[in-house]
Amino acid sequence: MPEGKVMDQATAATNSSQIDSGVKGGEVKKVNLVINGASRQFVVDTKKVLLDLLREDLHLTGAKQSCDRKGQCGACTVIVNGNAARSCLTRVIDLNGAEVITVEGLGTPDNPHLIQEAFVLSGAIQCGYCTPGMIMASKALLDRNPNPDTEEIKEALAHNLCRCTGYVKIIDAVKLAGRFLRGEITPGQVRPEPKSGMIGVSHPRPSSMLKACGLAEFTADIKLHNAVEVAVVRSTEHHAVIKAIDTKAAEKMPGVIGVMTAKDIKGTNRIKLIFPDQPVLCQDRVRCLGDPIAVVAAETRAQAQAAVAAVEVEYEPLQVMKTPAEALADSAAQIHSEWSNLCFRQPQIKGNAEKALAESAAVAEAEFSTQLNHQAPLEPEACVAFLEGNGEEAQLVVIGRSINIHAHLAMLQEALGWENMRYEEAYSGGQFGIKIAITSEGIAAATALHFKRPVRYIPSLAESMLMTSKRHPFTMRVKLGADANGKLTAYTNDFIVENGAYMILGIPVVLRALQMLSGSYHIPNVSALGKLVYTNNAAGGAARGAGPPQVTFALESAMDMLAEKMGIDPLEFRRMNSLKPGQSKSTGRVVEQWPFPELCDAIRPHYERANRDAAAFRNGPLKRGVGLATHAFGVSSPGDTSRVAVECDPDGGVTVYAAVADPGEGNDSMLTQIAAHLLDLPMEKVRLVTRTTELTTAMGPAAGSRITYMGGGALVDAIEQMNEALAEAGGRSQEALKKAGKPTRYVGTKKNEDEGPLDPETGQGPSFESQIHAIQMAEVEVNTDTGHVQVLKMTTVVDAGPVIHPQNLEGQLEGGMDQGVGYALREEYVHGQTKDWVTFKFPTMRTAFDMEVIVRETHRIKGPLGATGVGEMTMVPTAPAVINAIKDACGVRIYDLPATPERIKAALARGK
Ligand code: FES
Ligand code: FES
Repeated sequence: MPEGKVMDQATAATNSSQIDSGVKGGEVKKVNLVINGASRQFVVDTKKVLLDLLREDLHLTGAKQSCDRKGQCGACTVIVNGNAARSCLTRVIDLNGAEVITVEGLGTPDNPHLIQEAFVLSGAIQCGYCTPGMIMASKALLDRNPNPDTEEIKEALAHNLCRCTGYVKIIDAVKLAGRFLRGEITPGQVRPEPKSGMIGVSHPRPSSMLKACGLAEFTADIKLHNAVEVAVVRSTEHHAVIKAIDTKAAEKMPGVIGVMTAKDIKGTNRIKLIFPDQPVLCQDRVRCLGDPIAVVAAETRAQAQAAVAAVEVEYEPLQVMKTPAEALADSAAQIHSEWSNLCFRQPQIKGNAEKALAESAAVAEAEFSTQLNHQAPLEPEACVAFLEGNGEEAQLVVIGRSINIHAHLAMLQEALGWENMRYEEAYSGGQFGIKIAITSEGIAAATALHFKRPVRYIPSLAESMLMTSKRHPFTMRVKLGADANGKLTAYTNDFIVENGAYMILGIPVVLRALQMLSGSYHIPNVSALGKLVYTNNAAGGAARGAGPPQVTFALESAMDMLAEKMGIDPLEFRRMNSLKPGQSKSTGRVVEQWPFPELCDAIRPHYERANRDAAAFRNGPLKRGVGLATHAFGVSSPGDTSRVAVECDPDGGVTVYAAVADPGEGNDSMLTQIAAHLLDLPMEKVRLVTRTTELTTAMGPAAGSRITYMGGGALVDAIEQMNEALAEAGGRSQEALKKAGKPTRYVGTKKNEDEGPLDPETGQGPSFESQIHAIQMAEVEVNTDTGHVQVLKMTTVVDAGPVIHPQNLEGQLEGGMDQGVGYALREEYVHGQTKDWVTFKFPTMRTAFDMEVIVRETHRIKGPLGATGVGEMTMVPTAPAVINAIKDACGVRIYDLPATPERIKAALARGK
């Protein structure tokens, strides 16, 4: 279907089945096509879609797929006869005589198309998974309308989903491409001068042109000779004993090489991130819908999937506990024999909160809840694995999605009982915390070991949703008090975290919630208790922010409630209660720096303008409101350590060896620009080796906004050592180092000076040694007839220290706000029911909104070049800012996320 007309997602969801209707399988037909200028002939099955022809037959992997070919994501967009078309919905037999252009036909890194240049120079490419589709949709638009306005761009790209950017820089890129194409300006006039400095300049990311040209290989793009395809038998029960697994029928099916079960795994068969509670394949019990039970290896994916249906699993159902209340009941069955359902609890006690609340002039009190949610990277889970060499000496190579390759390697070695392994990180289509846990790697690697064949495991989106960890749901009972002068006196928050079936990262999420519990504020008395509870639901894991977004929703809602009670303006109330250097957070950790009041001052004129604007919309069904929320996000947890090596190369350049994953944030830019800056080198003389365990040292995960702080910090240390050696050698070359008898390679370390966990009884102790600060403002319009909320604009004022790459920083902040609004208003994952991007309510160009990013740059005492991290910041306070704005607009407060139209209408009907 040409894309001149926009189809809504619900309609798109049905299209893949419409394609198949009336077509008999097995029929073939000859088709002539011109693909990227070359005439080609194909004899194809009548069901074959263009995406499969391009990817599987022609190995043109620029077009991606994310939505199980349902027409929902746009990642597969190409141009057919001048129109953008989703190639997953386009049957090849309908294209006889057509001209097809893919992203590979547009330009190359040496000779890119102007649209590719515009995407690179606008900072529109983060993970890059959506990029080829976005570029092709943009080309179709610009070919027919070289000067589109924002609305026309949104309309033309409404099919193309992006999880990383919040769409802001993509719209910028299309406009810039239009200017290039109209001849108003050239890429050379936009591209930063290489000599314009390295820090604070948005030099194009090292990987972005590869992604723009469709040449960056994501896992599903990797071709493996003689590979078997894998499909997995997954539990249809939420909680059950496995009585028997019958694989005989499946083993006889066409193309099947064999069926693997837990007994074929030689190691512990347990993935241990925190607890060793998650099997690679379940042996005797399933604890969650979708638990993996058996693996079918076959010559084709279709054969493997067909055989999965022939594996018979006999279950004995057990009591299913879907909520913490059910799992904590006296009659509840224990989900894991080694750990009780209440698998972790951590109190936090600072001062005497009960006494202080009793003596407070005003107290706000409420119960809040947040939902189970999916992180929603656009790329489905995928992994390939193979053995290099033969026999017991062979090295098992795993190529996949990891953001922590060394730790994942160690987990796989133990689980599979195979020591000689290497992990390579493929380009990764977003992650937002989801890739801190192992999923497809365990299965692909175990299958490669068992069948001694290369393995491709490319699950569907629906299966990817079943197998990945999620954002934990919290329920929180809070009280917040203030004295007669409006100074906060005490805060209590007793919260229950639903862990789901497996630990993954449950304990760190509870600890992070407590470590950042008091947010931006000085609260002298705090009492909290976090409880973590196993259930038979999807396991919770890392999810952008991981703990703080949930507790900040409660605190920042309570801040507005208390400000209202006391008759104090919400901005003033926040500013007057700011923590100050020398005061302590809820953990008792005294802070050295706290540049938060300045953020309040910076947002004030915007806040006053927004309030004036909203005041004009107080009558009638459409009401506007303004809401604020803040946070101080901790970077680098106690005991955190990372190492980065720098090698002086023969040509005077350097190679940086760092296991720094880059699923989209721009870590390649960060390492390159810091090294070039400190060594006074042109960027092309800084080479990166980051994606393999073979050549790098452990660096920790690309999570917790820690990579710039920790990886950048270790890099600075390594370069300082090298610079010292070069100075002593009397020359800036490898030769000089060698002549002086000095090493050419230097390993730098960054270590968090805080050590140890929180005290188990009081929750007092070390926490984060560096903070990012933000205040965020939402402007919304509420339709009080329908309950629908439209976010008109988000404004954020952020201080993350000196900025290394402004576009990367803005991109993280914009993407975080977009995700935060989805979390506030729409997104909710229901295990077994949320199966695609429509049921997930993925944000689109149509839900995109205006954003303004205001940056302050307070030099940090401890950060590399004074910097800290930024990746999760705006995700944290966005939801409470939106909820506070809804309250301001229409007078009702939403206590349970997401704030759906139904919840808002119900609250309006109740009148509160
Ligand atoms: S793969 Fe074609 S629209 Fe998603
Ligand atoms: S850059 Fe768009 S999905 Fe990642």
